Amino acid sequence: MVSTDERIAPQEGVSAFDLAAYLKQQKAIVEAELDRSLTVVAPEKIYESMRYSLLAGGKRLRPILCLATCELMGGTLEMALPTACALEMIHTMSLIHDDLPAMDNDDYRRGRLTNHKVYGDDIAILAGDGLLAYAFEYVAVNTREVPAERTLQAIARLARAVGAAGLVGGQTIDLESEGKSDITLETLRFIHTHKTGALLEACVTSGAILAGAGAEDLQRLAKYATNIGLAFQIVDDILDITATPEELGKTAGKDIKAQKATFPSLLGLEASRTEADRLIEEAIASLEPYGTKAEPLCALARYITSRKN
Ligand code: IPE
Ligand code: IPE
Ligand code: MG
Ligand code: MG
Ligand code: MG
Repeated sequence: MVSTDERIAPQEGVSAFDLAAYLKQQKAIVEAELDRSLTVVAPEKIYESMRYSLLAGGKRLRPILCLATCELMGGTLEMALPTACALEMIHTMSLIHDDLPAMDNDDYRRGRLTNHKVYGDDIAILAGDGLLAYAFEYVAVNTREVPAERTLQAIARLARAVGAAGLVGGQTIDLESEGKSDITLETLRFIHTHKTGALLEACVTSGAILAGAGAEDLQRLAKYATNIGLAFQIVDDILDITATPEELGKTAGKDIKAQKATFPSLLGLEASRTEADRLIEEAIASLEPYGTKAEPLCALARYITSRKN
């Protein structure tokens, strides 16, 4: 593993933060840990299916956010790495299940066939279940140098974010809203802040909690996270219309076909872009007290609207 000292860290007075280099470096750390986290044992089929989706690439934005926040709050990479990986396991579960025929019925994800297309619906459901359970085991067993009380708090945040109060609740209303033409902006905000925003918020706040952040910092970071969370799904909706399947690594144009409630379907593309940009600027504004130390989080926020996949 790359030691904390050798890695790229924002320096006082140096403003040209190299996001591409930072993403590459953090992604490599996360990929290596994810690869180590899950080995194939009997029954091989389920472990292979779990690894198939977990190690299929992806931006790894959630673990990178968790690591960045932990470091901003004075913690080390090691303190947050198990939680960062768990967040990616939970996210991967949500993708496997989201792609199932009973939900969005998608054939491609992360540039390859979806899990159920390769392993069947039955194993894909179980692979999601396996990843979800393993995520919590992974944090509980592997977190070191963090007081147990903080680890417990982080685990509670993750659980709440993925459950009916968060992602599961958002996905429920997302599916219920398909084909309806009278969805309000308020309902759409509920869908997006829950199905996507809740887990992104848990990435940021769990990293901070592990580092021992106080209530004021947590509140500020939660505000940043809420704003980037909503912006992230608005941009996902925009890219579904404007990007190619090759760029996305998943089928494009599927939201219109499935008559999904999205920001572009309610507001149009331009107003959706404006709203995403506004949310990102608001997110960045809440990090002002941290000065240049917050450069990674500011750059990650900007990446959410500039990304092409
Ligand atoms: C896709 O998430 C699902 C949404 C919440 C919109 P990402 O766009 O982060 O997917 P990966 O992890 O990079 O594949
Ligand atoms: C997915 O939203 C949100 C979750 C997976 C929880 P989408 O259904 O828009 O994500 P994509 O476009 O399939 O990645
Ligand atoms: Mg969906
Ligand atoms: Mg989908
Ligand atoms: Mg989408």
